[in-house]
Amino acid sequence: MIKIKKMNLEDFEKIKENLQKDFDDFWKPSILKSELESKDSIYIVAKKDEEIVGFAGIKVFPDDIEIMNIVTKKIERKKGIGKLLLDKIIEISRKIEKEYISLEVNEKNIIAISLYEKFGFEKIGFRKKYYNGIDNAIIMRKKF
Ligand SMILES: CC(C)(COP(=O)(O)OP(=O)(O)OC[C@H]1O[C@@H](n2cnc3c(N)ncnc32)[C@H](O)[C@@H]1OP(=O)(O)O)[C@@H](O)C(=O)NCCC(=O)NCCS
Repeated sequence: MIKIKKMNLEDFEKIKENLQKDFDDFWKPSILKSELESKDSIYIVAKKDEEIVGFAGIKVFPDDIEIMNIVTKKIERKKGIGKLLLDKIIEISRKIEKEYISLEVNEKNIIAISLYEKFGFEKIGFRKKYYNGIDNAIIMRKKF
């Protein structure tokens, strides 16, 4: 059974060595660590027994909550963990009482876009060549 918990630095220590290989190459470990330490951020982990199989985080801005990342361990994908993480992120965000939760996603990332659309996020904008000066980003948003 998968349990969702708050992510702490101990969790980070367990996954940092193989973060990019096992999860995603989007972030270097140092970036995740500073995100975790930021007072405006909230991170959660998905655990299968004691193994970390996914994590996700938000950052709270004055007018908005932004999803910074949502990642499932590569070998555990397509089993519903992404949906569990996003569901919890939305539940936590709703209680913070902002009007919107938003995110940026690579327009080629059809898997993530499909996940977000299932939870009621809508495409509201576009950032040209946002990723590595090559790929466009789509901005998606959900109103509470
Ligand atoms: C996006 C991601 C978190 C989804 O995690 P997951 O645990 O595999 O997701 P789930 O099993 O809960 O699937 C959720 C939905 O995503 C979509 N999805 C997942 N895998 C898919 C695939 N191979 N092809 C198409 N859609 C897919 C489907 O809409 C699926 O819903 P369904 O099961 O009802 O069809 C995962 O692919 C990942 O970690 N990707 C790399 C990091 C990333 O790109 N994060 C988003 C940053 S903006």
